[in-house]
Amino acid sequence: MSIIEIKNLKRDFQVGEETVHALRGISFSIEPGEFVSIMGTSGSGKSTLLNILGCLDSPTAGDYIIDGTNVASLSSNELADIRNRKIGFVFQSYNLLPRTSVLENVELPLMYNKTYSARQRHDKAMEVIQRVGLEQRIHHTSAQLSGGQQQRVAIARALVGDPVIILADEATGNLDTRTSYEIMALFHCLRHPRARHRRIHQPHHQAARWPYHRRLPRATRLGPSRPRRPAPIRRLLNT
Ligand SMILES: Nc1ncnc2c1ncn2[C@@H]1O[C@H](COP(=O)(O)OP(=O)(O)O)[C@@H](O)[C@H]1O
Ligand SMILES: [Mg+2]
Repeated sequence: MSIIEIKNLKRDFQVGEETVHALRGISFSIEPGEFVSIMGTSGSGKSTLLNILGCLDSPTAGDYIIDGTNVASLSSNELADIRNRKIGFVFQSYNLLPRTSVLENVELPLMYNKTYSARQRHDKAMEVIQRVGLEQRIHHTSAQLSGGQQQRVAIARALVGDPVIILADEATGNLDTRTSYEIMALFHCLRHPRARHRRIHQPHHQAARWPYHRRLPRATRLGPSRPRRPAPIRRLLNT
């Protein structure tokens, strides 16, 4: 069974008189263990799609089935529940709590889960911190970590609730090429549920040559909103 199945998904935004067709009817599915990249120019609808996949936003039309549940039929409470139990998020800007340790940041999502004792919370957090290779840094605060390390904490935090899928919106956007490669390689390793992260010693790689992209068939690509011609510089400068 697919983890994610979307069928003819559309999302329109009404801005004043104008309708922006951010997603124009896309269909694809994602299988367990798959690593999928969504590529497109700025404004082509990547974040719109991820927000819908993450149950942060609803489509205008079409079906979205996550782990067997059709999202269209759910109330906002049920959506929040799906979000908490099935989805891990990683953002471009890490979104860690400042002045809070690595361990506390990773334990945080489990604080809301009453089935975990303090001990179980600690052990589970330690397990995922080890999977991202940060067991030597558990008492560091966010400010004491590099960008790549902060993103590893964010990935551990996304993993700690055992989600069925991790969604990452431009997760390497703030990182240099080499660190971006390491973060992508980490995501790749994490597809195997029990695989410990092995430290990756790789020569400098171009992100564009990353070999794990799965290309979606042409017909299922995002429908880019028609690029607008840039306003003439004169007008921008108001002269
Ligand atoms: N909340 C919104 N209201 C109106 N238009 C939006 C909104 N969110 C996104 N859009 C528009 O939808 C299109 C896709 O945006 P987005 O998904 O952010 O693209 P990407 O992440 O690929 O850069 C853009 O034209 C953007 O202006
Ligand atoms: Mg975006």
